[in-house]
Amino acid sequence: MNQKTFLMISSMAVLLSAALSGSAAETTLDVAALRAKAKAAIQPLPDKMPGADKDLPTTVTLGQKLYFEKRLSVNGKQSCNDCHLVDQNRAGVDNEPTSKGAHGKRGDRNSPTTLNAGFHFAQFWDGRAKDLVEQAKGPVLNPVEMAMPDEKEVVKRLKADADYPKLFKAAFPAENKPINYNNFARAVAAFERTLITRDRFDDFLKGDDKALNAQELQGLNLFLTVGCTTCHVGPTIGGNMYQKIGLIHPYANTNDVGRIKVTGEEWDQYRFKVPSLRNVALTYPYFHDGQARDLRSAVKQMAYMQLGKELTDNEISSLTAFLNSLSDKTRKASQ
Ligand code: HEC
Ligand code: HEC
Repeated sequence: MNQKTFLMISSMAVLLSAALSGSAAETTLDVAALRAKAKAAIQPLPDKMPGADKDLPTTVTLGQKLYFEKRLSVNGKQSCNDCHLVDQNRAGVDNEPTSKGAHGKRGDRNSPTTLNAGFHFAQFWDGRAKDLVEQAKGPVLNPVEMAMPDEKEVVKRLKADADYPKLFKAAFPAENKPINYNNFARAVAAFERTLITRDRFDDFLKGDDKALNAQELQGLNLFLTVGCTTCHVGPTIGGNMYQKIGLIHPYANTNDVGRIKVTGEEWDQYRFKVPSLRNVALTYPYFHDGQARDLRSAVKQMAYMQLGKELTDNEISSLTAFLNSLSDKTRKASQ
């Protein structure tokens, strides 16, 4: 490293330790430098999701009703909200390693959160759906999820309902035949575009020096310096690229080959979408197979597998403290 970088890093270290010991004058200085460095990698979540400007309130209302609609599953037992719980301020997940479908059979992958999903560059762990609309068409017909036989059956149920015909008409006022499978997915997507988290970390990025405590600031600094932002970057701190799990040291579970199933390219073996770390403390367990039980374990494994680094307990604690500052201020885990 050249002298300039060395000076920068050592002065950061001094200022950070000053911050930890609580020296007021220097805390301000340090926090400003840290904020500038953070903003180069991570930006506040926008107020709205891409596409939300065009969503009518009536489309969002319909989408919300459909998100909770159990009749969209073959035996009337399951809605989107069974695996991605968003009511009662929950975090868009079921907090299970893998989820049970309508028939009680479990899938192979962990349910990711629907919160902020509309900010991601593609949907699913392997990115096989290009957006929320394409994604929403999947689970209803997936035999281990909601297991409906076909699109026609879904549309038939919606048409036979007392309320849906009116609601679809209001949601898609320009269309002659508004009840169809595509519009079902469009409405659900419109609702999902309202699911944005708000956290203390964004308050910090936007200028509130008191939003994070000393340990969280230290964790943020570590997150930026140790290399996590090579992959977890941008406003969603992830959700915008594919990377191999086990880049430097292999991941123990090799059952799921990842994105290679979508592209057929050798290069995509064990590659998954880098998950967003917004709200991550509430969405345990972790990884595509739900095998990392808590955040400490996920952080420790990440540093070792992806960066070849063995973190101390102290470092894991501060990184975990920082990740906790990314939790939505009002939401909580399901169990
Ligand atoms: C039985 C549980 C289950 C049900 C019901 C279910 N999902 Fe999912 N969902 C999953 C799982 C598991 C994944 C990840 C699958 C994968 O990546 O291969 C997923 C992925 C997603 C994603 C992608 C998120 C991301 O970060 O990539 C979205 C969005 C989503 N589901 C929305 C919905 C909607 C909308 C419904 C209702 C129409 C629904 N889900 C019903 C289990 C479920
Ligand atoms: C080379 C890219 C890369 C680097 C560097 C990296 N990660 Fe990850 N991270 C990923 C990928 C890919 C996944 C998803 C892996 C999977 O489940 O298959 C992931 C998953 C996670 C998860 C679990 C999220 C969830 O919802 O399941 C956490 C927490 C996490 N990373 C934190 C970190 C931290 C902290 C660092 C720095 C110490 C870090 N990561 C460095 C690529 C990376």
